[in-house]
Amino acid sequence: MLDYLFSLLSFDLGIDLGTSNTLVLVKGKGITINEPSVVARQKKTKEILAIGEKAKKKEGKTPDIIEIIHPLKDGVIADFDATEAMLKHYIRFLHETPGIIPKIPKPKVVIGIPSGVTEVERRAVQEAALSAGARKAHLIEEPMAAAIGAGLPVENTEGQFVVDIGGGTTEIAVISLGGIVVNQSLRIAGNEMDEAIITFCRMKHGLLLGLPTAEQVKINIGSVIPMAKEKSFIVRGRDMGGGLPRSLKLNSAEVREALGSVTQQIINGIIDTIEETPPELLSDILKHGVVMAGGGSQLYGDDCRSAGLTFASGREARRTAARMMAAPSRVCGRTPSPKMKKPSNAAQGRAVNSMTALICDSRLA
Ligand SMILES: Nc1ncnc2c1ncn2[C@@H]1O[C@H](COP(=O)(O)OP(=O)(O)OP(=O)(O)O)[C@@H](O)[C@H]1O
Ligand SMILES: [Mg+2]
Repeated sequence: MLDYLFSLLSFDLGIDLGTSNTLVLVKGKGITINEPSVVARQKKTKEILAIGEKAKKKEGKTPDIIEIIHPLKDGVIADFDATEAMLKHYIRFLHETPGIIPKIPKPKVVIGIPSGVTEVERRAVQEAALSAGARKAHLIEEPMAAAIGAGLPVENTEGQFVVDIGGGTTEIAVISLGGIVVNQSLRIAGNEMDEAIITFCRMKHGLLLGLPTAEQVKINIGSVIPMAKEKSFIVRGRDMGGGLPRSLKLNSAEVREALGSVTQQIINGIIDTIEETPPELLSDILKHGVVMAGGGSQLYGDDCRSAGLTFASGREARRTAARMMAAPSRVCGRTPSPKMKKPSNAAQGRAVNSMTALICDSRLA
């Protein structure tokens, strides 16, 4: 009875609690929040000063008394209080929207979690949501969320291959009959790419870059394979020798070299997953291709035809996926036809970052 009343007075929410970004979907309204998972807090008093974009803007520029927190690390909660504060903030904010009937911030929520988390980590997410005001908190594994969000027929007997490269985790999964058949959850993703760029610049050019600069480099000129027209990007950092500021022109070939070991580990994860996939499902995957999700999958790659596989998601994501899949397809001992048909998938062209959050509409019964 009480639950029924709350269902009338509060929204049902789908939350993608990501290492880099938090997305909130309101049932019936779509994605209403898409903000960085960052919190600015007073060190001593623990008072929350800013959340989301406002907090991210302060990163690297705060005085000693303020700390900038990334409440999630590798897809799991690293700072419970900051996560709770962030969730509470968004839940309250969404229920403050003016309407005829006032809303009570007691929503039913579905939250995406990495597939490789422990029971303790699962419970932490659930508890954070409940103490942030949710009256019920259901969890869903992120690759399943990405697949549903991409509009894939997950209940079908046909296998679907999903690769979600986020900030903290890369989720690789084969889905069939409404469940995950094989999966890998790697704690390597966009953040490791940023760190690889920092290490490269330090070792090769003696220049110390900040994390936000490294991320800019990755987004602007990062690639997995040679670009049709190689690019360059000017960065500013601190010279390791003299300690003074210095500019440097980085080119995309260097950045590709810097990212090489991280992208190779992701490719290896895909290879391992393919090796474990039952042969019947593999043939479906060769037919339909791979769905790429997550911000990291937008790295520049090659034309998908080079791998003979097709991909459904953002344009760049499709290209990258193609390159990554080139290696696994050789492992399978099959040479896919370059003329393979493109899947007519509803997800084509949809913002990749939004995929996981889209889940929840269909899961909030
Ligand atoms: N165009 C781009 N090219 C490459 N990387 C990108 C691009 N745009 C965003 N990213 C990276 O994508 C990552 C964030 O992706 P996403 O929002 O999917 O992660 P998340 O869901 O918060 O993390 P996780 O799922 O690991 O918990 C960041 O590392 C960001 O730098
Ligand atoms: Mg994610």
